[in-house]
Amino acid sequence: MKALVYNGPRDVAVKTVPDARIERPTDALVQIVVTNICGSDLHMYEGRTDMETGRVLGHENLGRVIAVGSAVDRVKQGDWVCLPFNIGCGFCENCERGLTGFCLTCNPGSAGAAYGFADMGPYEGGQAELLRVPYADFNCLVLPPDAEQKQLDYVMLSDIWPTGWHATELAGLKPGESIVIYGAGPVGLMAAYSAMVKGAAQVIVVDRHPDRLKLVEQIGAIPVDDSKTDPVEQVLKLTDGVGAHRGCECVGYQCHDHHGHEASNLTMNRLVASVRPTGGLGVVGVFVPQDPGSQDKLQQRGQIAFDMGTFWFKGQFMRTGQANVKAYNRYLMNLIHAGRAQPSFLVSHTLKLDQAPDAYRHFDERDAGWTKVVLRPAA
Ligand SMILES: NC(=O)c1ccc[n+]([C@@H]2O[C@H](COP(=O)([O-])OP(=O)(O)OC[C@H]3O[C@@H](n4cnc5c(N)ncnc54)[C@H](O)[C@@H]3O)[C@@H](O)[C@H]2O)c1
Ligand SMILES: [Zn+2]
Ligand SMILES: [Zn+2]
Repeated sequence: MKALVYNGPRDVAVKTVPDARIERPTDALVQIVVTNICGSDLHMYEGRTDMETGRVLGHENLGRVIAVGSAVDRVKQGDWVCLPFNIGCGFCENCERGLTGFCLTCNPGSAGAAYGFADMGPYEGGQAELLRVPYADFNCLVLPPDAEQKQLDYVMLSDIWPTGWHATELAGLKPGESIVIYGAGPVGLMAAYSAMVKGAAQVIVVDRHPDRLKLVEQIGAIPVDDSKTDPVEQVLKLTDGVGAHRGCECVGYQCHDHHGHEASNLTMNRLVASVRPTGGLGVVGVFVPQDPGSQDKLQQRGQIAFDMGTFWFKGQFMRTGQANVKAYNRYLMNLIHAGRAQPSFLVSHTLKLDQAPDAYRHFDERDAGWTKVVLRPAA
């Protein structure tokens, strides 16, 4: 099969690799129809993770089931399915509690597995013609009859919409509250969209890319351009001087100032400063335990200079981590099916798999207009 393979920093190529296949009786084999490039892929693409060369990337996958193992009961050949980026077993202590992003079975010795992801198990990704799905009965979200027609909406259930939703959950957002979101990439946009759906009174999003800030405006949120203004002052001004009730970090450890200089503590400290006393912080932007590629001594050990004093003094709380996609994807699917939500608004490019290396380059440069790339391996 054809697949997008990681060769090393900023080097990916479409190659012929052995076909994905049923390896265990609980597996399904899915023919990928659409698969996205994610900001998380960029951490790997840039060589800022432990990703092994030769592996297939891609964890935001939707397709049709073409075969199932002998122990698969529920999922049938021909089903349209969307796969959560995290792979869960369904029976470990964390999966039982709905914390499927931290499955204890699928990546032994660690907590949490995913397709085509550094440090999250040996599973190949779905930027390929075929994908092996472990524990298929548990992991497959079987889509309604409008799956084909609304595939660009449903594919966002694999990661970024549940992740954006999770950010607002972690922050504790309630209807009528205000929220500030750092980052207007796909995840930040989905956090803002989630906050709008949940009835936040004021949704403020900070970034510096005009095309992304335009999308912020398009969904009814308030854009703040941190290359033109101090974002903390701006948030305080918009919230009567007290700060937002809630805040989300949707950038991660490679956050930088608007000149491009990395400063891993920038968004976290701005978040603390722009959220009011007793407010909640939801951190879904990725932070890593080691980052040898960083210029910063602290960050190399996965540490940042965090404004602990202000955080403590304000009595804020913070929650973090990978999104437990399965906790939300069925319900968010219902919103799409009912015509209440259209997360595909952020798709900027739908391309063939062969065009993926070029798409990685543009998305990595955050070139104007490259908001979210969807690949079609079957095209
Ligand atoms: N927790 C999870 O389950 C989960 C799931 C998916 C993605 N992620 C992570 O979420 C993060 C965002 O993903 P994405 O797909 O939106 O990526 P992206 O790289 O496309 O978007 C990041 C955005 O942050 C902006 N940014 C950089 N520095 C900033 C700063 N100081 N202030 C404000 N904005 C700043 C960039 O301009 C960019 O628009 C990544 O770290 C990704 O790995 C986490
Ligand atoms: Zn992703
Ligand atoms: Zn599990």
